[in-house]
This record gives sequence, structure tokens and C-alpha cells, in this order.
Amino acid sequence: MAQIFPRKANILPTLSLIASLGGSIIAVLFIWYYFSPEYTDVGYMPEQPVEYSHRFHVGELGLDCQYCHTNVTVAAHSNIPATQTCMNCHSQIKRDSDKILPIRESFASGESIEWIKVHHLPDYARFSHAIHTNNGVGCETCHGRVDQMEVVSQAEPLAMSWCLQCHRQPEQYLRPNSEITTMGYSQPENFIERNLQRVLEEGIKPPTICSACHY
Ligand code: HEC
Ligand code: HEC
Ligand code: HEC
Ligand code: HEC
Ligand code: HEC
Repeated sequence: MAQIFPRKANILPTLSLIASLGGSIIAVLFIWYYFSPEYTDVGYMPEQPVEYSHRFHVGELGLDCQYCHTNVTVAAHSNIPATQTCMNCHSQIKRDSDKILPIRESFASGESIEWIKVHHLPDYARFSHAIHTNNGVGCETCHGRVDQMEVVSQAEPLAMSWCLQCHRQPEQYLRPNSEITTMGYSQPENFIERNLQRVLEEGIKPPTICSACHY
């Protein structure tokens, strides 16, 4: 009897098996990528090259965020301080400690310390620190109680729905610009009223159209 299918057809089931296996591998990789800490999510806390503690320097010494993150109110990106900023104190304080050694080496060689970035937005999303800090959104609202973090970890999801939640109702979150870097800020009772008035007076209108945040 004539063959209806050419012999080659026998490899079809094999091919489709491979294809479906390939499919699940891709699915697994996809899930792994999205849910792995590499992709950055709440709790992401990479190990840093120097044991710098925000809990100590901010929580105990009382340094203001802007002592180091000097760009937050003027630029899109917030800067990580140069080694010189650390040397303002550590050229004297604990200068012989092993923990300070990488700072002194960096200062001597002029090569910056390779801090590992904790927060990442995908390239297709647009974000500016300055616009937020100048319109009453505190560091704490987005980064949590940094003054209690021995090592910085991501406090909020930074997901689109999270951005939009505030963009639709900014009056729930704003604080006076003078309180931007305050940690543990508590809103007064009438804050919604105060914020609604501010939003009106200053024309604060966070965008919800796609093109505001996407290129
Ligand atoms: C004495 C300097 C200094 C001060 C003061 C300081 N920081 Fe930092 N900050 C750093 C350094 C250094 C890093 C990079 C290493 C790390 O992540 O811990 C950093 C990292 C961060 C990061 C993580 C950035 C990333 O990689 O995504 C955030 C968020 C942050 N700081 C917020 C704050 C806030 C909020 C305050 C004030 C409450 C503050 N910092 C005060 C030096 C400082
Ligand atoms: C305003 C002064 C000041 C600045 C600026 C400062 N530090 Fe410190 N730092 C201190 C003091 C004070 C201590 C605690 C010293 C002690 O325990 O006696 C300390 C402790 C440390 C320690 C622990 C040292 C040890 O042996 O236990 C590290 C690491 C450190 N700082 C890193 C940094 C880094 C990195 C920067 C810059 C991003 C920085 N510091 C900026 C004052 C400062
Ligand atoms: C509206 C939310 C929001 C506020 C308010 C905010 N940040 Fe951020 N921050 C972010 C996001 C989102 C990123 C990641 C940006 C990226 O990957 O492009 C980030 C990143 C950073 C970084 C890493 C460098 C960078 O720009 O990517 C530092 C340092 C930082 N923030 C410090 C601060 C400090 C200090 C304040 C307060 C003065 C502050 N942030 C206020 C959301 C915020
Ligand atoms: C807690 C409140 C809050 C959160 C969270 C927040 N925003 Fe905003 N956003 C604002 C406010 C307030 C403004 C200022 C609106 C104005 O000036 O009219 C703003 C403005 C903006 C603008 C407009 C910038 C411009 O040039 O006009 C962009 C883009 C933006 N936000 C992106 C984001 C993204 C992306 C996220 C999430 C990663 C985010 N925002 C999270 C409150 C917030
Ligand atoms: C306030 C800023 C903002 C606005 C407005 C906004 N997006 Fe996004 N969008 C983001 C951010 C931030 C991310 C990245 C989220 C992440 O990393 O998880 C994102 C991610 C996405 C993604 C990737 C999938 C996902 O959900 O993570 C798509 C698709 C998307 N946005 C489409 C849109 C469309 C369509 C609109 C208009 C209806 C829109 N966005 C409006 C901030 C915004």
C-alpha cells in the first residue's frame, strides 16, 4: 500500500515534542527572569563592595539624604556620592579600619567604588527624581525607611500600577517640600484637605497618559 505520508513525516511528532519542550524552557526562563532578584523586586538587596550602613550614617549620625545624594532635587537620576564625600570624615574617622580600606584605596587610585544598583526601571520607562521631590513626594514614600536599613533593599514594587496609584490620587501621598527627606514623617490629620488645596493651587497633575512614562 502506498504510503500516504512520506517517511520524513515520522519526525514530526519528535519535532513537536522538541518544540513544546523548548516552549516550556522558554516559559521557565521567562518566569525565572521575572521573579528572580536579578530582575529587581521588593526585597532585592545585593551585597555591596563596602559595608556602608544607612542605618548608622542616617539613623544614628543624622546625616541628611542630600549630604550624599546631592542631585535628587535637580536631576532625573539621583547620584551615588563620590569617594571624596566619604573621605570628608573617613580621612580621620576609623581610618585604619579594614572596612574603610576600600574607600582609601578608591580615593588613592581615583577609581570609583563599584556600588551595585538596587533599583532599576526598565529602559522603556521614564522617571525623574527632580519632578517628584519638587512636588512633595518624599524619599520614604518610594524607598521606605532607609534610615533603618543596614543594607539598602527595594521597599516598593516600582511597577506601573504602583506609579499610577499615586498619579491618580496624589493627595493621598504628598508632604510639604521641606519634609522630602524626613524619615518616619507622619501626616497631620487634615492632610488630604491640605494636599487637595495644594494640588489645585500649584496645578500638580501627575500624568496618566502612556506617552508620559513610555518612549
Ligand atoms: C553618607 C552618604 C549617604 C547618605 C547620607 C545617604 N546615602 Fe543613600 N546611598 C549612599 C551610598 C554610598 C549608596 C550606594 C550603596 C548602597 O546601596 O548602600 C547609597 C544608596 C542609596 C539607595 C539605593 C540606590 C540604588 O542603587 O538603587 C537609596 C534608595 C538611597 N541611598 C536612599 C537614601 C536616602 C533616602 C537617604 C536619606 C534618608 C540616604 N540615602 C542617605 C550614601 C548615602
Ligand atoms: C559625617 C561623617 C561621615 C561621613 C560623611 C561618612 N561616614 Fe562612615 N562613619 C562615620 C562614623 C562616625 C562612623 C563610626 C565610627 C565608629 O564606629 O567609631 C562611620 C563608620 C563607617 C563604617 C564602619 C567602619 C568600621 O570599622 O566599623 C564604614 C564602612 C563607613 N563608615 C563607610 C562610609 C562610606 C562608604 C561613606 C561615604 C558614602 C561614609 N562612611 C561617609 C562618619 C562618616
Ligand atoms: C516617586 C518615587 C521616588 C522618589 C520620591 C524618590 N525615588 Fe529614588 N528612585 C526611584 C526609582 C523608580 C528609582 C530607579 C530609577 C531608574 O532605574 O531609572 C530610584 C533610584 C534611586 C537611586 C539610584 C540612582 C538612580 O537615580 O537610579 C538613588 C540613590 C535614589 N533613588 C535616592 C533617592 C533619594 C535620596 C530620594 C529623596 C530625596 C529619592 N530617591 C526619592 C523612585 C523614587
Ligand atoms: C507617591 C506619588 C508618586 C509616585 C509613587 C510616582 N509619582 Fe510620578 N509624579 C508624582 C507627582 C506629584 C508628579 C508631579 C506632577 C506635576 O508636576 O504636575 C509626578 C510626575 C511624573 C512624571 C511627569 C514628569 C514631567 O516631566 O512632567 C512622570 C513621567 C512620572 N511622574 C513618572 C513616574 C513613574 C514612572 C513612577 C513609578 C516608577 C512614578 N512616577 C511614581 C507623583 C508620584
Ligand atoms: C506613571 C507612569 C506610567 C504610565 C502613565 C504608564 N506606564 Fe506603563 N509602565 C510604567 C512602568 C514604571 C513600567 C515598568 C514596570 C515594571 O518594571 O514592572 C511600565 C510597564 C509597562 C508595560 C510592560 C508590562 C508591565 O505591565 O510591566 C506595558 C505593556 C506598559 N507599561 C504599557 C502602558 C500603556 C499602554 C500605558 C497607557 C495606558 C502606560 N503603560 C502608562 C509606567 C507607566
